Amino acid sequence: MKNKIFKGVSSTALHANHHTNSEDAHLVPIYATSTFTYGSTEEGMERFLGKEKDKIYSRWANPTCKAVETTIAALEAFGLSNENNEPLELKALLHSSGQAAMTTLFLSNLKAGDAILTHYSLYGGTYELFNKVLPDTGIEVIIVDMRLLSEVEKAISTSENIKMIHLETPANPTIQCVDIEAITQLAKAKNILVSCDNTFATPYLQQPFKYGVDFVFHSTTKFLNGHGTAIGGVLLGKDIELMKTKVWKWFVLLGGNSNPFDAFLLLNGMKTLELRMQRHCINAKHLAQFLQQHPLIEKVNYTGLTSHPDHQIASKQMKDHAPVLSFELKGGLQAGIHFQNKLQMCTRAVSLGTVDTLISHPASTTHVSVPKEERLKFGITDGLIRLSVGIENIEDIIEDIEQALS
Ligand SMILES: Cc1ncc(COP(=O)(O)O)c(C=O)c1O
Repeated sequence: MKNKIFKGVSSTALHANHHTNSEDAHLVPIYATSTFTYGSTEEGMERFLGKEKDKIYSRWANPTCKAVETTIAALEAFGLSNENNEPLELKALLHSSGQAAMTTLFLSNLKAGDAILTHYSLYGGTYELFNKVLPDTGIEVIIVDMRLLSEVEKAISTSENIKMIHLETPANPTIQCVDIEAITQLAKAKNILVSCDNTFATPYLQQPFKYGVDFVFHSTTKFLNGHGTAIGGVLLGKDIELMKTKVWKWFVLLGGNSNPFDAFLLLNGMKTLELRMQRHCINAKHLAQFLQQHPLIEKVNYTGLTSHPDHQIASKQMKDHAPVLSFELKGGLQAGIHFQNKLQMCTRAVSLGTVDTLISHPASTTHVSVPKEERLKFGITDGLIRLSVGIENIEDIIEDIEQALS
């Protein structure tokens, strides 16, 4: 079944990895081993010289992690072709967290004196990495409103140092979207690399490689895992040589690798990605319609609503609208705190993408230490509530939210 092209996403998620094992175990086993034995000195030497590099040491590669990497690469490449009209090949590296995958991505591709261009409204950890860590390494971070292509054009024609553009679409927590294709075209004309954080959409809803990006990145902690059982991150690239050499070297030396147990959980979670996403998306649509007409709600941020400023762009580049939405309560901070406290079924927790509905109030949690003026620039108001819509029955989700609003 090696290299078989499947007709659907679920078949790909279930069968893309063609792992076999000596015990004929049905599921990919948890290869809980730090190192791998070799039968002779010659065999060991061959491995170190590049043959079967996968069987040396688990920081370098591990069979359970590899099964995940093969599966995610197949999902991101599903149905896509390269410039020679051949099935697109991608290389994935599984990390211990989304943050670790991002660190490998930026440090392996940028050096002191380079600049990276990105946009407002990013996941808090990404923003802090840009704001607090990269500047200390001599990498400049330039932030513009990328929903305006003229801002991107201006930035890349002003600074010669921009070597990479980083996108997060839809973005956490405001659900803002940027045009992957248009921005990538501008970047390619200047030989600038493009990376895209595809965490909110997953490859089921959006495949950024279709638009020519160089790297895709996920916090696998979220929808890919789906059950909230493990932190993880993955970095994928289409330049296989670069991924196998420089990027792999940084991955191994920074030490941000995942582990076989978390990889096992992720691999099994991904098997139901398509089914889960379909239910998540239907529920989000119904919930957004309910919230939109509620008198205590000022504004609903969900790209599936035609009133959302990014509705067009989200509809162009995603199969359906990502099942994460946010809304603003009329009563501000106190209303946000009160609403969260009254929830009976939905889970009060940060993170997203689990099978149950997760609700968070960024002003009192994830962004509590971000100065108000700063978070307002990102659209994070006092009464903003973020919801990761789960796969419960929609009647129960709506009932819980309705009673918490009352
Ligand atoms: C969009 C996005 N990117 C990256 C991350 C970081 O991933 P992790 O928490 O797995 O390190 C998160 C975490 O919430 C996220 O939402």
